[in-house]
Amino acid sequence: MSPGTCTLHSVSTTGDRAERLVKSRQRVADHGEVFTPAWLVDDMLDLVAAEAERIDSRFLEPACGSGNFLIPILERKLATVQARYGRSDFERRHYALLALMCVYGIELLADNAAECRERLLDTFVRFLKADAEGVWQRAARAVLAVNIVEGDALDMTTGEDEPITFPEWAYLGRGRFQRRDFRYDALTQRSSASVGLFTHFEEHEIFVPVAEYPPATVQELAA
Ligand SMILES: C[S@@+](CC[C@H](N)C(=O)[O-])C[C@H]1O[C@@H](n2cnc3c(N)ncnc32)[C@H](O)[C@@H]1O
Repeated sequence: MSPGTCTLHSVSTTGDRAERLVKSRQRVADHGEVFTPAWLVDDMLDLVAAEAERIDSRFLEPACGSGNFLIPILERKLATVQARYGRSDFERRHYALLALMCVYGIELLADNAAECRERLLDTFVRFLKADAEGVWQRAARAVLAVNIVEGDALDMTTGEDEPITFPEWAYLGRGRFQRRDFRYDALTQRSSASVGLFTHFEEHEIFVPVAEYPPATVQELAA
């Protein structure tokens, strides 16, 4: 195979589906693009099982590829949603969306970022089954458009050279969600600010949102 082509190699298999761990030698050389196999992801997530299963624990993967970590994290959260809210359609749907809202990624390559969003959407849609038509799917797409960022996790900028920002989502109950946006570079200064070294930000500046939105329903998020 010539370098730079995107033929997918089947490096290992789980069940009947070959896992795609490498897309091309060129991409491995250029971007270190080797995806993590499912069994290893599961073993690693087992080490933080309580957090991975908690609906509102926030996970950010700064080099998320096509989502090999983020999809199983979402699946674990959705299992908790089912166990806790399976008897109420209203709560089940809203907490499923909250679970999706708590999954974040940064990915340098546009095709990987797009694939990651599609796989997360597919996981969410399959969980909601028939309910996923229309408004829920559009709301989920809107969330994924801002939670999965195409950008550079090292210099913390987007493909358009803007500072990366992430929304902090919260579920207020009664079908309403709150969104506040924060700069990624400020959030990553949190630990150094606490010891007072090498920081461009004071402690009180770090949790100042760059944007705040009024509470929104699923219909408003989908609009
Ligand atoms: C080793 S792969 C891992 C992908 C995924 N985390 C997984 O375990 O399957 C590394 C990924 O990081 C991306 N990447 C490389 N440099 C990056 C950067 N500076 N910022 C964001 N993503 C980057 C690559 O495009 C690739 O998809």
